[in-house]
Amino acid sequence: MKNIVILISGGGSNMAAIVRAAERDRWAERFGARIAAVVSNKAEAGGLALAKALAKAHGIATAVVPHKEFPTREAFDEALAKAVDAHAPALLVLAGFMRILTPGFVGRYAGRLVNIHPSLLPAFPGLNTHQRAIDAGCKVASVTVHQVTTELDHGPILAQAVVPVLPDDTAATLAGRVLAQEHQLYPRAIAGWLSDTSCHIR
Ligand code: GRF
Repeated sequence: MKNIVILISGGGSNMAAIVRAAERDRWAERFGARIAAVVSNKAEAGGLALAKALAKAHGIATAVVPHKEFPTREAFDEALAKAVDAHAPALLVLAGFMRILTPGFVGRYAGRLVNIHPSLLPAFPGLNTHQRAIDAGCKVASVTVHQVTTELDHGPILAQAVVPVLPDDTAATLAGRVLAQEHQLYPRAIAGWLSDTSCHIR
């Protein structure tokens, strides 16, 4: 069985969408894959409570590695890798995980580390993407699923979806429209990755 580990920092709605898709679309049967664990860098992350609830129903482990307890990024990443490696992941999924990872961490999971970013990359890497898209007068906004490399919000693009920017949009209304797309796109992109890698294994 290929284990998937999901890293979160916040609401966890992408994580929940992935967990639901894995069940609904029978990833275990189709790809020999399962969501093994959800790891948060914040004990108070809303997504963690959600993950705990899902854990009961879906047999998913949960863990917290609080970044504030570590003196350096390297020390945090080392502890994070330990928590992740306890589940021997075939795929590590960043789902609203709001920490910049060290090159050492990224290199350790090269080729099996994916992220979702709420913009049409390579446009608007970094934070506040929705406000920046509105300020730039963009007529569409987007979400990108990509492989993670050492450069922030770069790396080979796996999937993208686009939504309109409406004349009276605020960052919040636009974020909501994009998030609904994220919930469709991320599970689809992961299923695509799993199906490609199963082909290579066969
Ligand atoms: C998403 O918009 C994601 O693209 C961004 O942060 C948000 C996380 O939402 N990086 P959630 O925690 O999955 O609900």
